[in-house]
Amino acid sequence: MPLVSMRQLLDEAAKGGYGVGAFNVNNMEQIQAIMEAARETQSPVIIQASRGARAYSQDKYLFHLMLAASELYPEIPLVMHLDHGNSVETCKSAIDLGFTSVMMDGSLQADGKTPATFDQNVEVTRQVVELAHQKGVTVEGEIGVLGGVEDGHGAGGSGHVTDPAQAVEFVAKTGVDALAIAIGTSHGAYKFSSKPDGSVLKMDVLIEIHKRLPGVHLVMHGSSSVPKDLQDVINQYGGKLKPTWGVPVEEIQLGIRNGVRKINVDTDSRLAITGAIRKVFIESPEKFDPRDYLKPAREAMKKVVAQRMTQFGQAGHASDYAPISVEEMKKRYAAAAAAAAK
Ligand code: G3H
Ligand code: 13P
Ligand code: ZN
Repeated sequence: MPLVSMRQLLDEAAKGGYGVGAFNVNNMEQIQAIMEAARETQSPVIIQASRGARAYSQDKYLFHLMLAASELYPEIPLVMHLDHGNSVETCKSAIDLGFTSVMMDGSLQADGKTPATFDQNVEVTRQVVELAHQKGVTVEGEIGVLGGVEDGHGAGGSGHVTDPAQAVEFVAKTGVDALAIAIGTSHGAYKFSSKPDGSVLKMDVLIEIHKRLPGVHLVMHGSSSVPKDLQDVINQYGGKLKPTWGVPVEEIQLGIRNGVRKINVDTDSRLAITGAIRKVFIESPEKFDPRDYLKPAREAMKKVVAQRMTQFGQAGHASDYAPISVEEMKKRYAAAAAAAAK
């Protein structure tokens, strides 16, 4: 199956009332882990690459690995998405390479740290929507600013929670297909210092945004759950993670009941991989064939990804619909634009 449009995946998820995990990758083993999890659970899937991942992998390698995945798993609808594009040029280069979906994160300026103004965000996102839709490519925008800077994205501190009124105006002015909102989460392992409640994880804001924008696909970033068992494996084998909490799965499920269709997960995969590798290094220090530790690492990531696919509800939905090509999406966007111009 060719790489498919994210818009269609999210529209179908909305019809079915489920969410779709968007898992970050940097290499072959992570792609394999996700595809095996998707096959095991019969899930449609979004695989995403950050700017860092594209630089690390020389993105052409990553792109061709994705094409291989789409050939090897023809029954799995598969989206290749750019995570946190920082400029029109970055999004354009991903589209030119063949990504079927891009995020223009205009909540920050191109440095990925300085908060942008509302007008700057609208302008840059609108430009990306225009050029992406001409090619049938889906666009995710972001309004509000995520907290933390652990992975290089974010303005630091606790971020700026999305203003629901601004979210409405942003969608109207940009025409994005999906909207990332800030509700107190941040990237990385250190999100919360105790199990989060409504004072730090603003599910009420999410619910309010969904009430005002019931037809818009919402995206939750920084949504790893940072489970204690994965932290424990790392620490048991010589790691030094400080106690920390992520986003509880039941809060994500509440989000899914209130318009969340895409859930971004990277840290949980990183924790699973690191724990598995540490275990081999400590238990079998004589080993030096990378396959001896990459295989268990891949298996550990597959396990957590399959668990999330089941928890988000995408499991079992891989063959619900015939995927629409990006070419067909191009026609649909053009028809929608012509209708709106009348
Ligand atoms: O955006 C957050 C993802 O975890 C990607 O992180 O920029 O370190 O690749 P990264
Ligand atoms: P986590 O760090 O919580 O996995 O979030 C990943 C993310 O939001 C990627 O865009
Ligand atoms: Zn993110």
